[in-house]
Amino acid sequence: MSSGTTESRQRLFFALWPDDEVRAALEATGQSLLGKRVKRLPAANLHLTLAFAGSVTARVRHCLESAAGSIQQAPFDLSIDHCGHWPRPRIAWIGPTHTPPGLWSLVGDLRSAFESCGLQADTRPYQPHVTLARKISRLENGTPITPVPWSIRSFSLVESVAAPRGVRYQRLVSWTLEG
Ligand code: 2AM
Repeated sequence: MSSGTTESRQRLFFALWPDDEVRAALEATGQSLLGKRVKRLPAANLHLTLAFAGSVTARVRHCLESAAGSIQQAPFDLSIDHCGHWPRPRIAWIGPTHTPPGLWSLVGDLRSAFESCGLQADTRPYQPHVTLARKISRLENGTPITPVPWSIRSFSLVESVAAPRGVRYQRLVSWTLEG
């Protein structure tokens, strides 16, 4: 017989979270690329996902936090310099042409953390991207954009919270990159 209790869960992911300046530049890029009439993600939601955990229990959240806290990674720089379109999820995005070793390493460490916390890590190749808009039927891949320099000094654990007008992202914990 079930106890009838439902364990509360949070929908979590690790992300690179832009500061105000980078956020404004990403937002401006989205506007010039897609135009004012296309419904884009709210500027406050722009981010680059490192690893998506999904709906997890408090125990798993604590395990992920503790594993993330032991990651050793030096700061690195990104250049968000190209745009893309995935026809299947119908997403328009921008991302770095070159993925620096520091980003590969951070994602690899987080995927290992997922496994050690009993989660299934994504086995698909990692494709760093900042989603600009959904339900986009087409966008010319390779449309030139003005590169957005983004200096990565920290990463965050973020909760996706259902809100009346879509989702809201709440940063829960951030870790500084050192070295
Ligand atoms: P997206 O922007 O490409 O949709 C919060 O939902 C973040 O996690 C978004 O950046 C989203 O990526 C990503 N995300 C959502 N579901 C995911 C999944 N099943 N696998 C990987 N990333 C996911």
